[in-house]
Amino acid sequence: MNLLLVARSKELLEQLAEELSSKNVSVKILATDLLAEDAHKKIFGFVKEQGLQVNMLINNAGMGGYGKFREMDLQKQLDIMKLNVDSCVKMAHEFLNTTSNTQRRYILNTVSTGAFQPVPLMTIYAATKAFMLSFSRGLRHELKKENVFVTALCPGGTETEFFKPAGMEEVVKKNAQFMMSADKVAKAGLDGLRKNKSVVVPGFTNKMGALSAKLVPHDVVVPVAAMFFKE
Ligand SMILES: NC(=O)c1ccc[n+]([C@@H]2O[C@H](COP(=O)([O-])OP(=O)(O)OC[C@H]3O[C@@H](n4cnc5c(N)ncnc54)[C@H](OP(=O)(O)O)[C@@H]3O)[C@@H](O)[C@H]2O)c1
Repeated sequence: MNLLLVARSKELLEQLAEELSSKNVSVKILATDLLAEDAHKKIFGFVKEQGLQVNMLINNAGMGGYGKFREMDLQKQLDIMKLNVDSCVKMAHEFLNTTSNTQRRYILNTVSTGAFQPVPLMTIYAATKAFMLSFSRGLRHELKKENVFVTALCPGGTETEFFKPAGMEEVVKKNAQFMMSADKVAKAGLDGLRKNKSVVVPGFTNKMGALSAKLVPHDVVVPVAAMFFKE
């Protein structure tokens, strides 16, 4: 598929665009901070300006923060909420209202297994993902008859750059055996979207975790989640 990639780091976007362009797809980039109030307008304005036909939105940008809610910087936590929730909601709204409804359209939201139960020491992060899971499911039902397909991708620990800015390098070392590659997770998400799955949980261990969160009372599940996320 042709791509429009959005992130803040212009140089990395340029490198990625060059790499992907060798695969016979057209790749455009837009360096934008999704925390900016009008980022969604800027992005879909660019789409219009360039005459692009967008039929798939992947809400993937997100960040985490690790530590006790009371002790963590409040602004950092509000920014996590803004990026993981507000920007995805704004992007979905703009996508649905500015792209052609005569074509089949897709929304893939990168959520997390943290959506299935609260995660102490990542309380705000997990709550944003619980919102995104509920939002994805509700939207999916609303848009069922409108040719729009919505999938929530819920990965567990994945090898990416997520952990350093989140202050989670020690936690990652402890859980290294449960980590999946980003390639496998991305492929599972796109396969799930193509098969019109509501929720995709990649990997056996993550599937078992998601199932336990459904079957076991939260009084039991939350302390177990806390154990995994203790340094
Ligand atoms: N890694 C995991 O274990 C894991 C598990 C479950 C779910 N997830 C979710 O997976 C998604 C992707 O995260 P990742 O693990 O791939 O982390 P990552 O390696 O840190 O990637 C985050 C991406 O989002 C972009 N981004 C961050 N802040 C942005 C902003 N303000 N404006 C525009 N773009 C921004 C980053 O590019 P720039 O820095 O250049 O802006 C980068 O491309 C997130 O929603 C995360 O919550 C991750």
